[in-house]
Order: sequence, then C-alpha cells, then structure tokens
Amino acid sequence: MPSVFASPNPVLFGRGTSKEIGEKLKEFGCTKVLVIFDQGVKKAGIADTVIANINRAGIGTVAYDDVLPDPPDWSIEEAAALGLREDVDGVVGLGGGSSMDTAKGAKLLLSNPPPINQYFGRDGVVKTAGKPLIVIPTTAGTGSENTPGGVITDTRRNVKDVVVGPGCAVSLGIVDPELTVALPPEITASTGMDAFCHAVESFTSKRWNSFSDVVAKEAITLIGKNLTRAYHEGSNIEAREAMLFASSLGGIAMSGPLCHLGHDIGKPLGANFHIPHGTSVASCLPQILEYIAPAVPEKIRFIAEALGNHVPETASVDTIGELAGAAVKALMKEINLPNFKSYGLTKSEVLGIAPDVIKFGLALAPMPTTEDVVRNLLSQAFEEN
Ligand SMILES: [Fe+2]
Repeated sequence: MPSVFASPNPVLFGRGTSKEIGEKLKEFGCTKVLVIFDQGVKKAGIADTVIANINRAGIGTVAYDDVLPDPPDWSIEEAAALGLREDVDGVVGLGGGSSMDTAKGAKLLLSNPPPINQYFGRDGVVKTAGKPLIVIPTTAGTGSENTPGGVITDTRRNVKDVVVGPGCAVSLGIVDPELTVALPPEITASTGMDAFCHAVESFTSKRWNSFSDVVAKEAITLIGKNLTRAYHEGSNIEAREAMLFASSLGGIAMSGPLCHLGHDIGKPLGANFHIPHGTSVASCLPQILEYIAPAVPEKIRFIAEALGNHVPETASVDTIGELAGAAVKALMKEINLPNFKSYGLTKSEVLGIAPDVIKFGLALAPMPTTEDVVRNLLSQAFEEN
C-alpha cells in the first residue's frame, strides 16, 4: 500500500524552551502579537510569564484571555476582531487544544474576512499563508502543534468542524515540559487519554501507513509507561516530558491516517454534553479495541502489552481484544477518568448521539461503522466503564 506521510510544523522541543518565545517572534519579524489563552492558564501564572518573555524582546502584546472549551465560532471572530483593532502582526496560542484551535482560527481571520464558518472543511481551505502563528501547549494531549488544522464548534449546526491548510498553519510549536508540571491531575488524565487515542486510532486506522506506525507505536509505549506517573506525581519532570513528547508524536501520527471511532464518538459527545475532549474520545475505547481486534489483532496485541497486559502467543483474536480492553479499562480507573454516569447522563441520552456519529464521523475504523455498531459500543461502555 502506498504511504502518505507529513509532519507539517517545525517544533522547538525541550525544558525551558518557552523562554525563547520573544526571540522566535523577532525572527518572524513580529512587532505586536495577539496572545490567546484561557482563564486556567492565566490563573496558573503561565500567561504572565510568557507575555513578560515576549515583552522583554521588545514586542508588544494584546491578550485574548476568554478561550472557551470546544471553542465556538463567535469566540474565534471575537479574538480576531481584537487582533485587527490592535493591528497585530502575529499570533501566539498558549494552553490546551481549545487555545490552539482558537489561535489557528484567529490567524485565519486576521487575513481573511469573517465569518469563520465559510472556511470549514476541505472546501474552505485558504491556501495563502497569513501572519505568523506560534503555539505553546500547556497540556500533553492535543498535539495541535503538530497538526495542520483546528477544531471549532459551528454554533449554527451544533457540530464541531475543522479549519485546515496554510491559512491557519502553525509557523512554530514551542513545546516546553516545564509548563505542564502544575497541570491538575484530572486534566493530566483527560488530555493524556486524548494523546493515547490519537496514537491508537491512527495506528489502527484504515489509512494507517508505515511511517505513522513507527511514530504511533512510540507514543503508545511512552503513554503506557508515563501517564499514571504523570497523574500521580505531577512534578515528575521526566514523566511530564515523556507525556508531552508522546502527545506531540500523536499529533504527527494522525496527520495522515486521521482518527476513527474514538473521535467520531467523542466529537458529538463533546458538542452535546460538554464532556472534556480527552474524556469523551476515550469513553468507548476499551470496547472499540475489542470490536476491531479481528481486523488488526497484532496491533491490538501491541497496545495491550504497551499497557502492561501480557498476551499469550496462542491467544485467540477475541482474547487479544479482551486483554487490550481490560488494560485500557484499568488505565482509565487508575487515573479516575470520569464515565458517562459521572456526568449524570442517561443511557438513552448517550445512545442518542449515534446518528451524528454516522453523519459526521470519518468511518476510518478497520471494521464496519454502522449506527447499530455505534449504539452497541455506547451501550457496552455505559454499562462497563
Ligand atoms: Fe483529540
């Protein structure tokens, strides 16, 4: 099978690298930048530190500090309007996936007229590069510094959609593990599972390829060894660095193969019930691995063993799936990942998203994706996880 592989964005990775933000913006010729983050990043003191580092290089800043989870289209337009009023010549996205998605959308609208909705999907791709965009992740999950697009909630249709292409592309990702040591355990858990799903889903996607498999396997191995450590010992910089590296690899791994059932199911869960992205995409993962084991048994074996569950050489396909599912369930329990019932959802509410999974999903799982299959996965996850 021919392979398509791309690692779209340059990345500066390592402890303390966020201190170089001012110099890097100078290299791009920036004189005043729009810095985009949320209240959590502000309260943690990270925004003030990064802004001070930018200002120290003689570059002006204006802050958009109202990033929302599942960022709605209107907030992207609000951020861009601020940047246009302040006549900025660059953008910095600082935080988790929502901040980076908002920054990607805002960059697009600094050089192209609103509304943002007209740029969604492949038909809306803007091919000309706009103003420089540097993103600095503060969570180890989204890998957005290594993806070619951003996810935005289309409030007209109540679905998440994507902007992709040069118009919203990252000019540089600065990935500094020191920024993640203060991350609360529940965010470490949810974002860590997002990274795990990126790696696992791209590894098992129908569009897998030999390049992305190498990257995905390393991400899966690193997460298997380090997510529970990062969860229980937040200040463990080795665990944090490994998780951040894994999330960056996850972003690269999915750039060709994309994700499948985990994200197909997680997106409508996020849009309808505002469950954090990582928790929603992982909500049915044990059941998904069991379901797809017949199509990709050796890959499911690898995942089970990376999580510490030995799979006997003679194990049947069903047993391989069960061992992998059990390993993911144990991981989710260990890091106290909330389940559907934690959010007060009823089974019928959860099953109600199945039509949207079929309508908007990518259907790249290696087994058939029908509405009945999705309803079964949701039903089993509701009962078992
Ligand atoms: Fe994700």
